[in-house]
Amino acid sequence: MRLTYFGHSAVQIETGDKTLLFDPFITGNPLAESVTSADSLSPDVIILTHAHGDHWGDTLEIAKRCDALVVANFEITEYTRRNGHENVQPMNTGGGIQFEWGTLIQTYARHSSSFPDGTYGGNPNGYVLYAEDRCVYNSGDTCAFMEMIWIGNHHPIDLALLPIGDVYTMGIHGARHAAHLIEPKLTIPVHYDTFPAIRADTEEWQELMKEIERETRILRPGESFDL
Ligand code: NI
Ligand code: MN
Repeated sequence: MRLTYFGHSAVQIETGDKTLLFDPFITGNPLAESVTSADSLSPDVIILTHAHGDHWGDTLEIAKRCDALVVANFEITEYTRRNGHENVQPMNTGGGIQFEWGTLIQTYARHSSSFPDGTYGGNPNGYVLYAEDRCVYNSGDTCAFMEMIWIGNHHPIDLALLPIGDVYTMGIHGARHAAHLIEPKLTIPVHYDTFPAIRADTEEWQELMKEIERETRILRPGESFDL
């Protein structure tokens, strides 16, 4: 599978002939706008961790144009339907679905979730994705939490996408703790450097990953990585 990072939590995964896009916050995301635009993306599936504007982003515009399947918690898929896009798959925490392109399990995340217009966005989530004999954990916006041990025990995680920007999510020290609990083979940090408030020290992050003997990979916006 091929993963492309657009900055913040916008991550594209190409697997087989399908393109999955997590949290497509492109317009207004200075990292993403330096390398792509919402109208140049054409995913088959959009997967949302929660409803905040920096994750929901360009979902409606992209989903309508591409007739992409929108996978998210029930409140988010209902909001999507009310706004004119019917191709949705609701889930709720702990649920899993086997799609033709892989299996997706919705996990718990400790955060909040409301739409930019104030509408309730259900509970925030992360995802475990199985595709092509790989297992990817996208934690979503969260702090470290003890149940991450279960996620790591139940799933042989090859790659964990972890926020490190602090302020709204865990920072590098919290994410170090998360990586220690999950024990993924590889971590890729997300949700940092988009705005001044969430600048992160990636040098120190790499040192922290060395300390707990986890591989990490820093991706520049627009950079792709084959897993
Ligand atoms: Ni958020
Ligand atoms: Mn966020």
